[in-house]
Amino acid sequence: MTAQLHYGTPAKILHWLIVALLAVQYPIGWLMPDLHRGMTPGAAMTFHVSIGMTILVLTALRLAWRLTHPVAPESSLPAWQRLSSEAVHWLLYALVLTTTISGWLFASFRGWSVSFYLLPLPMLASDNVAAGRAIDGLHQASEWALLILIGIHVAAALAHIFVYRDGVMQRMLPR
Ligand code: HEM
Ligand code: HEM
Repeated sequence: MTAQLHYGTPAKILHWLIVALLAVQYPIGWLMPDLHRGMTPGAAMTFHVSIGMTILVLTALRLAWRLTHPVAPESSLPAWQRLSSEAVHWLLYALVLTTTISGWLFASFRGWSVSFYLLPLPMLASDNVAAGRAIDGLHQASEWALLILIGIHVAAALAHIFVYRDGVMQRMLPR
């Protein structure tokens, strides 16, 4: 499949929608009440799960779109920037998927029945305390790894705007 030179409108809309949802999702994750044994999920947790599952669905769509509509890195970039930006982008996809799926598994191992907005969310596994503890560690590790990678990605975008002053940021903005 030949790679296009520009991101299309669906790729841009999905990119910025996921950015906005992540900006809400982290504060909810940090501010929602801590979990205790036997606790059932409250409104904040239902909101966290619903937004998280929306991020998962949109990322899966976006990945499918990306695989069927490949976009070449900006041709004026030096080889190291083309390679490193591709690596960061694929890692961002991978970490969003790990964070969301580990969250879903964690809720499942807790034996909860949670809803995706108003619909009951299918659970991936049954009640398992030990597996729940391990997967909680994975949710926290991947949520932090994702945040660090987002920091690197945003720093690179800022460097392109203010230091290199090239057209890279423009690639993700409406034309
Ligand atoms: C990319 C999407 C997501 C992000 C960025 C995210 C982020 C977070 C954050 C920051 C916390 C607080 C943990 C801490 O105190 O360090 C958290 C906890 C939690 N998240 Fe997510 N989450 C996401 C998706 C999901 C999904 C899809 C689910 C379930 C379907 C989920 C279920 C949970 C649960 C059950 C907790 C409580 C775990 C605990 O307090 O130990 N998360 N998440
Ligand atoms: C203010 C925050 C952000 C800015 C300014 C920004 C900017 C950009 C820009 C300019 C590109 C195009 C790069 C290129 O042409 O090679 C891009 C691509 C990308 N961004 Fe962001 N981004 C931001 C936040 C995020 C976040 C939070 C994620 C996390 C999921 C993310 C994931 C991606 C991915 C995966 C691509 C590659 C798209 C593809 O090739 O499919 N971005 N971003």
